[in-house]
Amino acid sequence: MEQSAVLRKPSFAETLRGDTWWIEPLLVLMGLSAFIIYATWAAFQANHYFAISYLSPFYSPVIYTDTSVVGSAPVWHALLGTWPEWWPSFLPASPAFLILVFPGLFRFTCYYYRGAYYKAFAATPPACAVSGIPQKNYQGETFLLIFQNLHRYALYAAIVYLFILAADSIAAYFYQGQLGIGVGSVVLSMNPVLLGAYTLGCHSFRHLIGGRKDCFSCAGAGPLKNGVYQKVSWLNRNHKLFAWMSLFWVGISDAYVRLVSMGIITDLNTWGL
Ligand code: FES
Repeated sequence: MEQSAVLRKPSFAETLRGDTWWIEPLLVLMGLSAFIIYATWAAFQANHYFAISYLSPFYSPVIYTDTSVVGSAPVWHALLGTWPEWWPSFLPASPAFLILVFPGLFRFTCYYYRGAYYKAFAATPPACAVSGIPQKNYQGETFLLIFQNLHRYALYAAIVYLFILAADSIAAYFYQGQLGIGVGSVVLSMNPVLLGAYTLGCHSFRHLIGGRKDCFSCAGAGPLKNGVYQKVSWLNRNHKLFAWMSLFWVGISDAYVRLVSMGIITDLNTWGL
């Protein structure tokens, strides 16, 4: 290829690649848009987030609950009790508003998602090696990139959420103190599994586990640490897969609890409900 062809500024939407590079950014655009729209809608509903003993992950943990709302969590499920008077009246009394910022921040600053949504939503670049135009005014780590450093701290909150969602999934096997199982129990149990695979494959977590070691076979590293590091590295290599699976599963979980609470579908369970 002639050098002049490489340096020529492409016209709008023209690239030097002849393959279907645009499919992945397009799928990311559609997938993330669908999730954001659904999650925002679900958070604003402020109802039908609890059914039988199933709690939607969008609303967990419940800080306050308004028990006058249909499909709300019982008071014993709320960490601080009933809905407070100080809540601004123009906002729905939604427990989701109080907790979604933490998992939201973790996802937003995730190294994988950054690359994905920069390409899909802002086309900067549209895909790797597509643009061919050098970034003349790149200024290094500024504004949004500095904000993205919060990821290493959001990781700690995400790890706490794993325990919270694991507790929710265990609670989903009990109805009024009676051990049993329903489709919802299985649906909710998938959340800590998939979110665990996503969170423990985080680049920041991998660094915490062993990123500061230069040599695992050297004296002092130890086989246990090496083994954990290898497993975390496997999760890290599959980070994109678990990012999407866990993202969609929390949406599916909310939809399932919502539909059961609304009476649109019946949960098959051993409690005979
Ligand atoms: S890099 Fe994706 S969750 Fe940390």
